[in-house]
This record gives sequence, structure tokens and C-alpha cells, in this order.
Amino acid sequence: MEKNDTVIISDDRNSSLAKKISLQLDVEYKNTELRVFADGECKIRLDNVAKRNCIIIHSTYPPTDRHLMQLFMIIYKCKEDGANNICVVSPYLAYTRQDKVFIDGEIITINLVTKILASLGTTKLITVDSHSPNLLNCSFATIDLTAIPSLSAYVKKNMTINNPIVVSPDEGGIERAKKFARLINANMLSLVKTRDRFTGHVSISLSEQLPLKKRTALIVDDMISTGTSVIKAIELLKKITLTTCMLYVPTHSYSMMPKKNYLKQVSRKYYLQIQFPMNLPKLI
Ligand code: R5P
Repeated sequence: MEKNDTVIISDDRNSSLAKKISLQLDVEYKNTELRVFADGECKIRLDNVAKRNCIIIHSTYPPTDRHLMQLFMIIYKCKEDGANNICVVSPYLAYTRQDKVFIDGEIITINLVTKILASLGTTKLITVDSHSPNLLNCSFATIDLTAIPSLSAYVKKNMTINNPIVVSPDEGGIERAKKFARLINANMLSLVKTRDRFTGHVSISLSEQLPLKKRTALIVDDMISTGTSVIKAIELLKKITLTTCMLYVPTHSYSMMPKKNYLKQVSRKYYLQIQFPMNLPKLI
């Protein structure tokens, strides 16, 4: 890929990450102009990108529908202009959590989203700690990056943690938590999460009895949406007298999370996350 042929594209929301990438790669950066009408529809303007290799930086955190639609519009414009390649970098790609049918009649939205991306002309998709990294059944190339090494390196460098234990709130997150635990030389514990498929009610329990008293739990998950999973995990861990809980979440902004303040209270000390777009891990 020639440098001059490549262009990094983003809207204002994603511009801090996009500009950093363009500086690092020493390639041109193009910002899209966005207008939102009173009824919620958007209008986007982007300079012509004919024959360019386009790298679109676009996370789709809430409002997910709107941000996903804007991503589709930008890809569509690149394709219409005659871009050579279209690489989408979406650290958090919405609608990719539903990767199977739990109740008859449900829609596997990960397939829907990847089909739309393919039909619009996407040639490569890069995500970060995707919920279903192996299930992206796409006709284009996919890469799932992970923030776990950066998060664990940050912890090792900046924090002194007394007797840590890395905790995955559910069995689906075991591999991610194991990796984090290995990198900071700690043990790992997975909780068991069950979700009532009809009511959405979540329960979390312990699967094994470990000596947990006075240990510091480092909870690692891929995302926070409503906050229910991490809050239930923290409440359970507190009952069994862990001293402190910290939370590491690679991709999803919790800024619109309804239970944000409650989460702050129950986690007692502090938690840390990397969210995109932003500069560095943030202590809250
Ligand atoms: C689910 O399996 C995921 O890994 C997360 O634990 C989940 O999506 C978080 O959602 P919420 O914050 O709504 O519990």
C-alpha cells in the first residue's frame, strides 16, 4: 500500500484516534462533515477519495443505530467515489453481540451487520476485543486486535496491587481474562453468568471455592452496556470479602450507562478502562 494512496477518514467523534493513526503512518487525514436534521437523519460530506486506499476509523458506541448508519454512509461514499480499498476500523462494532439464536425467531445481527458491510464494499474490518471474534463470518478480511496487553502493561507499570485475582464475569470471557492474568502473573477466576432469555434477568454465581479473602479482584470484560453484569459480579465478590474491585474494559464507553453512579459506588475504589476514541487508559 503506497503512502500517498492511503487516506485516514473519520468524523469529529473519532478524530483524536484517527489523527494519531494518520500521524503515525504519515498519511493524509480527512474529516467528514456531519449535519443532523431535526428528525434525526444525518447528512455527511466527504472529499472525493477516488483510487485511494481508505481507512475509516469509526466506533459505533451509543447511539448505536445512528453511528452504524453513519458508518454505512461513509463506506458507501468511498465506494461510489471509486476507492481502491475500504478498511473499516471499528473498535466497538455495534450489533455484533448477537451471534446465535437463543429464542426461536431471533435475528443473528452479527451476520446482518457483516453482510451490509460486505455489500457496501468493505475489504477489511478491524475490531478490538470483539465479543465474537471467531464468528465474524465475512467475505472480507477481519482482524480482531486486543487491548489486553496494553491494559496489563499499564497496570504493571502504574499500580501496586495486593494479592490480585483476575475475574471474568462469565465463561465467555475466560480467554480474555486468562491472558490478562498471565501477563500480570496472577490467578484467574471465572464467575458463572446466566441470563433469563425472556426477561433478561442476570444472575451471577461462583463456580468454585477459592481462598478469596483480602484479595483484590481485577474484573476484565469486553464491554459494559447496562452495567448489570459487572455490578452483579462486584456485589458477589464483595460478599466474599475481597478488599477492592477494579474493572478493565477495553472497548465500550460506559458514559451513557444508566447505572454509572451506582457502579462507582459499588466498585469502592476505582476502575480503569480503555475506551475509543480516547487517548489513554483512564482512572475514574
Ligand atoms: C456479555 O456476555 C458481555 O461479555 C458483557 O458482559 C455484556 O455485554 C455486558 O452487558 P451489561 O453491561 O448489559 O450486563
